[in-house]
Amino acid sequence: MRVAVVGSGYVGLVAGACFADLGHDVILVDNDESKLAALKNGQVPIHENYLPELLSRHRGQRLTFSGDLREAVGASAAIFIAVGTPPTERGEADLSYVESVAREITGAVDHYKVIVEKSTVPVYTSEWIRKIILRNGADPDSFDVASNPEFLREGTAVTDFLFPDRIVVGCDNDRCANVLRQVYAPLTSGSYYERTDAIPQPDRSTIPAPIIVTSTKSAELIKHASNAFLAMKISFINAVASMCESVGANVNQVCHGIGTDSRIGPRFLNPGIGYGGSCFPKDVMAFRAVARECGYDFRLLDEVMRINEDQRDRFLRKVRSALWTLRGKHVGVLGLAFKGGTDDIRESPAILIVQALLQEGCNVTAFDPAAMERTQEMMTSGLKFANSAYEAATGADAILILTEWEEFANLDLQRLNQELKYPIVIDGRNLYDPEVMAANGFTYYSVGRAAAHPDGVPAAAMKNTAKKA
Ligand SMILES: NC(=O)c1ccc[n+]([C@@H]2O[C@H](COP(=O)([O-])OP(=O)(O)OC[C@H]3O[C@@H](n4cnc5c(N)ncnc54)[C@H](O)[C@@H]3O)[C@@H](O)[C@H]2O)c1
Repeated sequence: MRVAVVGSGYVGLVAGACFADLGHDVILVDNDESKLAALKNGQVPIHENYLPELLSRHRGQRLTFSGDLREAVGASAAIFIAVGTPPTERGEADLSYVESVAREITGAVDHYKVIVEKSTVPVYTSEWIRKIILRNGADPDSFDVASNPEFLREGTAVTDFLFPDRIVVGCDNDRCANVLRQVYAPLTSGSYYERTDAIPQPDRSTIPAPIIVTSTKSAELIKHASNAFLAMKISFINAVASMCESVGANVNQVCHGIGTDSRIGPRFLNPGIGYGGSCFPKDVMAFRAVARECGYDFRLLDEVMRINEDQRDRFLRKVRSALWTLRGKHVGVLGLAFKGGTDDIRESPAILIVQALLQEGCNVTAFDPAAMERTQEMMTSGLKFANSAYEAATGADAILILTEWEEFANLDLQRLNQELKYPIVIDGRNLYDPEVMAANGFTYYSVGRAAAHPDGVPAAAMKNTAKKA
């Protein structure tokens, strides 16, 4: 099939590369000239496993890049809109990028096409897209608007796309649904998985991929409701973690006890410094706003957001209680990306914590395996960068773990201890066992678990740890 994907960011680029791997002819469109030039030159603008392989497999053959939206639409049977939907100041989704694409493509809708919302958008957006295209003169029989929300996670985006838990397709008639069924047929029939050159199947995936066909509005709601639910799960366990800290319980044990209930499940019960990234914060806000507009006061979501913000403040209080004053202190930071496996720092809780530390006069040296370049572009002064976790720790009063990169969970603890001025680790991602840290000579603070100290002395009593020679 001939397919156009408009917007070649985290979602569009992965979707385009994966559609090409499924055997479709794909034109990836973007209005960012420098991004297009980089893609055409063989560069891979984002850090994502398997993406370089897919791009080099299909670039210039089944996958081409273009700045000409109308031409791409004219040549395609399905057009996936994957442009950004950032939050407005009022917390609603800014749909101006989606609208401008809808307006611009009208002239190219000359024979039957399906315009697909891949971007995360509020319910009713498909109706607006239809209205805009009609207002600009398209024949009502020449197109349908469908919703095909994307559930990929950055860091595992390619495998999430090719081995999804489910594919949700929202269409209001069979003609339109059949086009999308055809697009995803290699995944839903399982033929893709039989290929010897298919991307390897990750654990926990079910093949062939299930497809759920709903009305367009239901599909739009499924995406917002899914993200809001997941954010709620994170805030819920963070609130439980705070209770654990108050009463001296261990949140890991509590999570195990909760998560083994098959109705709840163990995933997404990871206490930490709160959710971030380009999706959850904006999608929870947008869902809250759209609920209000629909006449439902979804106050549960306010609380989800409040707990999330509070979680960062609690972490900063932990840093202060470990180090006392922050002005002039040297702190090493492990992790800047909003989660492990990506270079994306949008709404990263790690960045927000680093900014707060810098504001309090702390000297911060950070290391992240993939996100330092993006951080450098965004933060003009104050933050220093290291070439490794150990370098970030060198001479520091404490090391803070802010992103759950796998390599941060496997550090050489003796070496880390030697590099630090004081052996203090404040772990916002619970990557280590407190007892193991104490046995390796660290005073160790984490989330929802009692602080640990090498001598077994309660950490609160150890604020004045003697300076190492
Ligand atoms: N990032 C994720 O993990 C993720 C997951 C699921 C859904 N989503 C949703 O997908 C959408 C895109 O997210 P993203 O992270 O890929 O955003 P992004 O900012 O990385 O990419 C958007 C791209 O669209 C391009 N663009 C903007 N206006 C354009 C236009 N008029 N014509 C052509 N190109 C245009 C931009 O240049 C950019 O390259 C959002 O709605 C987001 O909520 C994101």
